[in-house]
Amino acid sequence: MKLERVAGPGPALNVPSFVRHPRLIAWIAGVVALTRPDQVHWCDGSDAEYRDLCAQLVSAGTLLPLNPEARPGSFLARSDPSDVARVEDRTYICSEREDDAGPTNNWMPPTRMKVTLNQLFDGCMQGRTLYVVPFSMGPIGSPISHIGIELTDSPYVAVSMRVMTRMGDAALRALGTDGTFVPCLHSVGMPLAPGQADVPWPCNKDHKYIVHFPEEHAIWSFGSGYGGNALLGKKCFALRIASSMARDQGWLAEHMLILGVESPSGSKSYVAAAFPSACGKTNFAMLIPPPAFDGWKVTTVGDDIAWIKPDAQGRLRAINPEFGFFGVAPGTSHQSNPNAMLTMRENGIFTNVALTEDGDVWWEGMTDTPPQRLTDWQGQAWTPDCGRKAAHPNARFTVPASQCPSIDAAWQEPAGVPISAFIFGGRRSTTMPLVLESFNWTHGVYLAATMGSETTAAATGKVGEVRHDPFAMLPFCGYHVGDYFSHWLRLRQQLTRPPRIFCVNWFRRGDDGKFLWPGYGENMRILAWIVGRCEGSAPAVESALGWMPPETAIEWDGAPDRARADFAAAMAIERDEWTTELTSHQLLFDRIGSKLPAEFQLQRQLLLAGFQGAADHWRLP
Ligand code: GTP
Ligand code: SPV
Ligand code: MN
Repeated sequence: MKLERVAGPGPALNVPSFVRHPRLIAWIAGVVALTRPDQVHWCDGSDAEYRDLCAQLVSAGTLLPLNPEARPGSFLARSDPSDVARVEDRTYICSEREDDAGPTNNWMPPTRMKVTLNQLFDGCMQGRTLYVVPFSMGPIGSPISHIGIELTDSPYVAVSMRVMTRMGDAALRALGTDGTFVPCLHSVGMPLAPGQADVPWPCNKDHKYIVHFPEEHAIWSFGSGYGGNALLGKKCFALRIASSMARDQGWLAEHMLILGVESPSGSKSYVAAAFPSACGKTNFAMLIPPPAFDGWKVTTVGDDIAWIKPDAQGRLRAINPEFGFFGVAPGTSHQSNPNAMLTMRENGIFTNVALTEDGDVWWEGMTDTPPQRLTDWQGQAWTPDCGRKAAHPNARFTVPASQCPSIDAAWQEPAGVPISAFIFGGRRSTTMPLVLESFNWTHGVYLAATMGSETTAAATGKVGEVRHDPFAMLPFCGYHVGDYFSHWLRLRQQLTRPPRIFCVNWFRRGDDGKFLWPGYGENMRILAWIVGRCEGSAPAVESALGWMPPETAIEWDGAPDRARADFAAAMAIERDEWTTELTSHQLLFDRIGSKLPAEFQLQRQLLLAGFQGAADHWRLP
């Protein structure tokens, strides 16, 4: 749908008087000339502006105000049913050389991609306002932070960016006259002809492109208004572009939560954990220890992304580059994640959840018994027996991190927090034990690199299929995954106190199909062992896969009976499963090709050797 080109001078750029950054202004002028919006609005990030934009979104039918008594300052958004998750098959890394994107990314030559994008963006903002959204990923002024400017024709994206990033004048001022920024161009891809009525959730059903140019550090996103496709500070910048910057500059941009653990003795450690999308990062980041852990405290630094740098002492320090949480709603309840429920008491944007009769939100898993009548995520009348889900499985809440009761005192510390352990966890019904510690850095990197996980509703496509998801970064690594592994291996040389590396699997199932481990707050029992290992106090048993906690090393006081009874099964190592697993590692390595670190083949041989003559069913002694 291409509109007529209208001759004329184009809209005023409305550059704020304090902005004297020629490169920024020239870029915006170029985008305005290409996309031809009706108006240009520079977001200042103020409360008043947020209120105005929300009010405007309410008039447009994009946002529905929730009952101010039940959910103050909050809104419901219903997306187009075709625009509900990240689109991995439409996501590209357009490096100059195909070999720099690697086998796990879609690639096209940048020049060819730009021809396509220039056609799509030509006039694509007609009838709309272009919002200039300046934002900082990380505390403004931190040596680990970076600034981006998103140009978007979606006011929903502008308000979401206000919650998710440090957005507005302060970020713009920090740029000065020639500061570097990541240009992030976004359009929903649905221009409006004069007089044409808008729809509540504009998007482009035929064309979607989420494109990264790693050499230029630039992002172009077309056709989707949802989540990681459109809030470009998140996956596009803070993971794909940042991972590529991090490789060049000797740091890490990871799909990790960051949490703090305080023990009764007052010692505090921080751990960073990588789980794939919708595999429990938000839950783990906000964990509340069970009563047996009197005097222990878990605090939240971040729930999705970590930027991590070695400091002058050779320790890794991490910041959460985000300012809010964009969390999976279904499954979140006062039982599973009380801190998340309290965080979203007010000032939230809820997308694709169900609406209750009294103007509040609901989703599967929020309460044991669903309300008798709801309006579902598509605006249809819903009853418990109607056979449809009330909320979309990838329905999300967008809330300020500052509202989280467990937010860590140092969550905005510009220097970041010191990391004592890395934890990697997939969603595996079989094979992977509940927890193990790697023998050393190389072995840990190997285990993270070969991690498998069942796909979830966070991305479009099949759900529940096991795929390799190295470091939980499969959809987010902005360069060749083989180079990424080498980068992790090499980083060890810069560290005097490398974090220990652990693997967990909360999702292993028994013969009855039920989870073997209760999960959620009970994960504290495993986390306490991990922290104990880092402090050198917790015992461990050697297995073919790594160090494991003997049953006696776990605090069982108050645990559900089944947890302890099923512990042996949750920790078991089945030789047949691992023979298959190690074969699948080779398939991954074949795909990666010549950039696979040589250490990995040796490590695989060592693991294979460990299973030679091993018991069919290995159990903790
Ligand atoms: P993204 O925001 O997509 O990156 O994901 P996330 O890792 O933050 O996902 P989140 O924590 O929201 O995961 C939600 C899903 O994980 C829901 O299906 C939960 O039921 C499930 N989940 C979280 N923690 C646990 C756990 O300890 N055990 C089990 N069995 N499921 C869990
Ligand atoms: C994920 O899919 O890992 C998310 C949600 O955190 S999105 O921002 O849509 O990528
Ligand atoms: Mn994520």
